[in-house]
Amino acid sequence: MERTQVGIIGAGPAGLMLSHLLGRAGIGNIVLERHPREYIESRIRAGVLEQGSVDLLRRTGLGGRISGIGLPHSGLEIAFGGGRHRVDFAAATGGGGVTVYAQHEVVKDLVAAVLAADGDIRFGIRDARPEDIDGDNPVLRHADGGIRCDFIAGCDGFHGTSRACIPSGRLHLIERLYPFAWLGILAQAPPFQNELIYARHERGFALFSMRSPEITRAYLQCAPEEDAGARDDEAIWDELDLRLGVHLERGPLLQRDVTAMRSFVAEPMRHGRLFLAGDAAHIVPPTGAKGMNLALADVTVLAAALRRHYAEGDPTGLDAYSDTCLSRVWKVQRFSWWMTRMLHRFPDDGGFDGRLQLAELDYLVSSEAAMRSLAENYVGLPLDLEGA
Ligand code: APR
Ligand code: PHB
Repeated sequence: MERTQVGIIGAGPAGLMLSHLLGRAGIGNIVLERHPREYIESRIRAGVLEQGSVDLLRRTGLGGRISGIGLPHSGLEIAFGGGRHRVDFAAATGGGGVTVYAQHEVVKDLVAAVLAADGDIRFGIRDARPEDIDGDNPVLRHADGGIRCDFIAGCDGFHGTSRACIPSGRLHLIERLYPFAWLGILAQAPPFQNELIYARHERGFALFSMRSPEITRAYLQCAPEEDAGARDDEAIWDELDLRLGVHLERGPLLQRDVTAMRSFVAEPMRHGRLFLAGDAAHIVPPTGAKGMNLALADVTVLAAALRRHYAEGDPTGLDAYSDTCLSRVWKVQRFSWWMTRMLHRFPDDGGFDGRLQLAELDYLVSSEAAMRSLAENYVGLPLDLEGA
């Protein structure tokens, strides 16, 4: 049977960055992806990179396109009660910031880097799943065969198969569903300003974002069952303007999507020789822009642990993997939940929660300490890149 050191399921940011980091450390790995390359390189998803994620990409040779087309942000705006208020990341975090750079651009950079270094990514693979993870010789099984591995990384997203291979008695699934969703639009329209706006409005949350100097990305809180095609284009723009309190530049809509909102964690993130990373192990609501960053943080920890295992025969990093990741995951869950709770309209609110939201927002924008806390979390908690 074919062999490799680390078998990776899924070519999202988690699986690809893991392959990239392992390749740089000389550790053999194979990535199996269900979809074709063109599909993963064009799928519209997240778009905000923490400072640490940008540093990781730069440090590992992937800084070129980000420096060219990434949009650095040194603050954001929060709209509520008829006004807009700026949170200055740079002032609050000593020069930190985020970069708007689409997830599929990160995916393109990673695929190109892995393939250029003779890495092995196989697209269009059906039924990939881990087998024998309790023993010393796990197998990465797929429809056309199997690959014997030392370890398997389940980087196959929320709907992947890896998580289900952990015996149910050993896995705790902790979840919160929110009673709303986001209707997202991508539009051929110049962003009307450089910084994001997060809005809390009586009619619901709205977010103004962007992808490039020509493309606006924006979101409206909607009902979870809303059909993405239900509203007229003009009705969407009118609602965005109303909730954000601005006049956006309008243009043709290129795409619409409805995203469910959930907080989810699977504990522990390791069982036997299977390691879960990224959305396979946790989901955050998108309000804090953390999903892709958390996926990159997990595999940074995993790659360092595997390097220590292979180079020094030291298993401590692998043994600590789940706890190390979960301590970050829960802090990021807290931040994403806090942003979500503060900015959305909850259908069952009798009035009390809405008043608390306004008090919290008022406090936030009048307190340097509160703004610093938001900025520190938004820009990203420290990420240990030593050896990446
Ligand atoms: N076999 C092979 N590939 C699979 C399988 C399978 N059985 N199941 C899922 N996959 C692939 C999916 O097609 C997808 O390309 O795994 C990949 C998982 O990638 P992501 O969903 O992007 O997950 P992750 O790498 O953890 O990145 C998290 O993605 O959902 C966004 O907002 C989220 O930004 C976050 C990021
Ligand atoms: C995006 O640009 O897609 C985006 C930005 C900020 C978020 C979520 C999504 O919190």
